[in-house]
Amino acid sequence: MALLIQGGTVVNEDLSFIADVLCEDGKIVAIGENLSTAADVEIVDAQGCLVMPGGIDPHTHMELPFMGTVASDDFYSGTRAGLVGGTTTIIDFVIPNPQQDILEAYHQWQKKAEKSVADYSFHVAITWWDDSVSEAMGVLAQEHGVNSFKHFMAYKNAIMADDEVLINSFKRARELGAICTVHAENGELVFRLQQDVLEMGITGPEGHPLSRPPEVEGEAANRAIEIAHLMNVPIYLVHTSCQQSADAIARARANGQRVYGEVLPGHLLLDDSVYRDPDWSFAAAHVMSPPFRPAGHQEHLWKALQAGNLHTTATDHCCFCDPQKRNGVDDFTKIPNGTGGVEDRMHVMWHHGVNSGRLTENEFVAVTSTNAAKIFNLYPRKGVIRVGSDADLLVWDPKASRTISKETHHQNVDFNIFEGMNVQGINTVTISQGEVVFRDGEIKVEKGRGRYLKRPLFSADHLALQKYSAQRLSKPTIREPS
Ligand code: URP
Ligand code: ZN
Ligand code: ZN
Ligand code: ZN
Repeated sequence: MALLIQGGTVVNEDLSFIADVLCEDGKIVAIGENLSTAADVEIVDAQGCLVMPGGIDPHTHMELPFMGTVASDDFYSGTRAGLVGGTTTIIDFVIPNPQQDILEAYHQWQKKAEKSVADYSFHVAITWWDDSVSEAMGVLAQEHGVNSFKHFMAYKNAIMADDEVLINSFKRARELGAICTVHAENGELVFRLQQDVLEMGITGPEGHPLSRPPEVEGEAANRAIEIAHLMNVPIYLVHTSCQQSADAIARARANGQRVYGEVLPGHLLLDDSVYRDPDWSFAAAHVMSPPFRPAGHQEHLWKALQAGNLHTTATDHCCFCDPQKRNGVDDFTKIPNGTGGVEDRMHVMWHHGVNSGRLTENEFVAVTSTNAAKIFNLYPRKGVIRVGSDADLLVWDPKASRTISKETHHQNVDFNIFEGMNVQGINTVTISQGEVVFRDGEIKVEKGRGRYLKRPLFSADHLALQKYSAQRLSKPTIREPS
């Protein structure tokens, strides 16, 4: 059935304008003032509201097996919570175990994700290296629409990619026309510091930020950026959490490099005092990597976002309940790393970004949707309100508000890092694939309605980078025979 969103202000990353939006068969088919209505059209009244592209969360971990347990939100509950909060697409991570066939891991994740209720796609992590991995990257890229590969520079003795893996994988990604993404923390340093902190007798969650200070992230960010520079491949840094790595991105961009940065609302708003809370469960619930940072870094991240040196907002949604966190009750290095937020990201970013005047409504759309679509080559299918694009839309009421709480959220976790925060500016309606799935507090979805999104290779970045580097290729010096 057709759907007409009537009387709202359409907000794209480049422009806001008053228009109705007509959707048919899951696509946007017309945009204009006073669009006429046929009898069998469902009307959504958007008077006094904004109509925005659905959010894209480019960093989630639904039902991730990690640190001896499994993340508590699965692809059903997690994507459902996302729709409630205005996120209509997620990009999750396939994370093969070391030595595991990466195609096998990819198919395992596809199976788990069949129950998704929002559209989804996958980055694939490269956790080890040999010729078979190189070959499998080709199959993923060319047959399965994977155009981004992830590298964990941390988590030694588990999924860490060392420099040899990074260099080989970055080179292969360039050949394939895929983008490289990194979790930038020096895993060797983290490992050393964890032992030092434990030897100091610190076993509680307060040890977590001590073992992963900003320098650890800054070093890895600079290293990954330089490797990408020399390998001529675009790079995207996930969860940029501190001044050191935000500055590394800004410096590289000022030098003409194609580098992108992602930031999480948690890193923009929380500081590391949470880890020193006397309540162990409260402190442990905040254990994620990189950790929340000392006061001061948050302001720097906001400025980097405002300046355009950070491009996307994500959640790194990776939930663990208190009994799971308790695996590390005697040793902070064993507390499963991860926090939630897929339901709250859009609201928190509007409230603290737009209501504070840090971001325009158009910049909000850019950092919650459009930029992720462009960087990961989903644009203009996603990330924009345009004829021909998928009808993933939000009716956003800038006056409506909600108080965030674990008591009312839809995320399958017993904690919320934004507990008690009153946010003004929320989606009252979520439309996914042209269908109203959430309206006035009620979510109605059929399990498995989410679709896998293949993403094409060779984004505009790659094409430009190929030309740029081809013109700068070194040539052998021609000498007279001696
Ligand atoms: O603590 C986190 N971030 N857990 C999920 C895995 C990762 O590093 O992204
Ligand atoms: Zn990470
Ligand atoms: Zn460089
Ligand atoms: Zn993550």
